[in-house]
Amino acid sequence: MEGGPLLRIENLVLGLKGRSYPLVGPVSLAVDRGEIFGLVGESGCGKSLTGLACLGLFPPAVTPLSGRVLIGGDDLLALSENERRFFRGRRVALVFQEPLSALNPVLTVGHQVEEVLRLHRGLSGTAAREETLRLFSEVGLPDPETRLRNYPHELSGGMRQRVMIAMALAGNPDLLVADEPTTALDVTVQAQILALLLELRKRRGLAVLFISHDLTVIREVADRVAVMYAGEIVELAPRESLFAHPSHPYTRALLEAFPRLGVRQLRALPGQVPPPGHWPAGCRFAPRCPEKVPACEKEHPAMKALSAEHAVRCLRR
Ligand SMILES: Nc1ncnc2c1ncn2[C@@H]1O[C@H](COP(=O)(O)OP(=O)(O)OP(=O)(O)O)[C@@H](O)[C@H]1O
Ligand SMILES: [Mg+2]
Repeated sequence: MEGGPLLRIENLVLGLKGRSYPLVGPVSLAVDRGEIFGLVGESGCGKSLTGLACLGLFPPAVTPLSGRVLIGGDDLLALSENERRFFRGRRVALVFQEPLSALNPVLTVGHQVEEVLRLHRGLSGTAAREETLRLFSEVGLPDPETRLRNYPHELSGGMRQRVMIAMALAGNPDLLVADEPTTALDVTVQAQILALLLELRKRRGLAVLFISHDLTVIREVADRVAVMYAGEIVELAPRESLFAHPSHPYTRALLEAFPRLGVRQLRALPGQVPPPGHWPAGCRFAPRCPEKVPACEKEHPAMKALSAEHAVRCLRR
């Protein structure tokens, strides 16, 4: 097995076909084996596109402009679509917010997991059935035998998310990209799914790129956290360090906002995230920053190390 991180994103910039401005980036981050890496930020900051890029997936209008996405030693962006397909499911798999849109409504969930097992591991018949039952037990689905024969609409939201996780695990990936996997669930079920991810990490050594707009959720699971703002990472730190010593003014604003459950807006901050094509030339956060000085509007800050593991993109730190 290769050394080094499992996933390494290097200066990834994503754009729209036919447009010159970036949608996301440059983004650099690395996820280690067995690590739960949290990616947090407000709507539109680029979390989902970054997550999809880890599978070499891009919505039709979106295209990588530069950078690398390394899984082991292989740059996904340098591979053909056929070659990328080999990585999907077997090295990296995706779990997202709404399992209903990912599951086929007219097939039983048992059938759908068996199909993934056939595709990625060549299993069929009894072997596929037994492995599906095993996966269903592993993800904590009650009465797995009955679940095999259920259609997606017959299951609760929490159970559907467990089926999605079972499907994602079917190819034995090392990394799960989980994009807001608990956002659509009520708080109790959300806690159960987070506990399941932690258990899978422990049992399988699974790594997770955990995407959320909610710092309370990130705080439950992540070993390290990257905070994104307007397409770039503005702070990167181990969880304890980020919550004990938030350094970027944006991270602080997010933390102040989070006790107000259900409130998406950062009340402490005026203004909005600038959309792609309208990022300021200096610090992208400067227009909203309570601590800005004139230099912040001229100079785009680089990531600066505050300690071996804690870095921040702010001229004033
Ligand atoms: N298919 C697409 N075509 C054009 N622009 C897109 C597309 N998908 C995303 N974008 C734009 O790219 C930027 C990043 O979007 P992304 O979905 O990654 O944000 P996000 O952080 O996941 O937001 P949210 O919290 O709402 O899910 C946004 O400005 C968004 O409008
Ligand atoms: Mg998203």
